[in-house]
Amino acid sequence: MTPQKEGASMVQRQFPKPSELMEFMQFKKPSLDFTGNRLEKALTIYDLRKIAKRRTPAAAFDYTDGAAEGEFSMNRARQAFEDIEFHPGVLTDVSTVDTTTEVLGGTSAMPFGIAPTGFTRLMQTEGEIAGSGAAGAAGIPFCLSTLGTTSIEDVRKVNPDGRLWFQLYVMREREISYGLVERAAKAGFDTLFFTVDTPVAGARLRDKRNGFSIPPQLSLKTVANAIPRPWWWYDFLTTPSWNSPRSPQPAVPWASC
Ligand SMILES: Cc1cc2nc3c(=O)[nH]c(=O)nc-3n(C[C@H](O)[C@H](O)[C@H](O)COP(=O)(O)O)c2cc1C
Repeated sequence: MTPQKEGASMVQRQFPKPSELMEFMQFKKPSLDFTGNRLEKALTIYDLRKIAKRRTPAAAFDYTDGAAEGEFSMNRARQAFEDIEFHPGVLTDVSTVDTTTEVLGGTSAMPFGIAPTGFTRLMQTEGEIAGSGAAGAAGIPFCLSTLGTTSIEDVRKVNPDGRLWFQLYVMREREISYGLVERAAKAGFDTLFFTVDTPVAGARLRDKRNGFSIPPQLSLKTVANAIPRPWWWYDFLTTPSWNSPRSPQPAVPWASC
């Protein structure tokens, strides 16, 4: 036996054995569920945002992603969330955890719900149907916006037993507002959110720069932006118009207080 030279490797080498190699080969069966494949790779909300940006025309993406003026308050809100720290409680029995809580006179399986968003189907064609159905399945409340893009009744249809809330922008034509509240009550929505902070619309600069409008207008710029995103246009053109179920062509919402 030759003595080991100082500093030389002690690792023993062998020829790779095919049987051992096979153990490491884990080829996933290819799936034709492209949406599922994409979503499986999205591990955080930021991953989802990246996918949305790639697949949605700039004006629709920016309406959802942007905020007013320099977007300072949105960035502060985001920072406030990031500043939250959980204090770990170790050596505690967590074999059964119940996150159920009471909110606004009813229960919710988790201490949050889905906030109202205008023109939800602008971002994804299933919009409120997906949101309301998911909220129902998760046992959390879903809030429908006055400027939503699915009818009050259809939102209830996909979530027959869950808690639904209705967010109200008071229109100049008061009768429209009263009508919406009555329909929501009849459909079993249990809470009314009365929004009072929009006597005038915010200066959403991204929307201005994009020439954002409802319904979307085709200009040279929007066509150029749409070409790599054909599925969005396919969804838009092959599903019912956003304005059909509820009246507003968005009259500027206002509050008289
Ligand atoms: C794209 C978008 C649309 C919104 N539309 C409405 C709306 O129609 N009515 C409303 O009261 N709030 C609306 N909001 C405000 C949200 O309901 C929510 O209050 C706000 O986003 C703050 O919550 P967050 O920090 O979880 O985003 C909208 C927010 C976004 C991002």
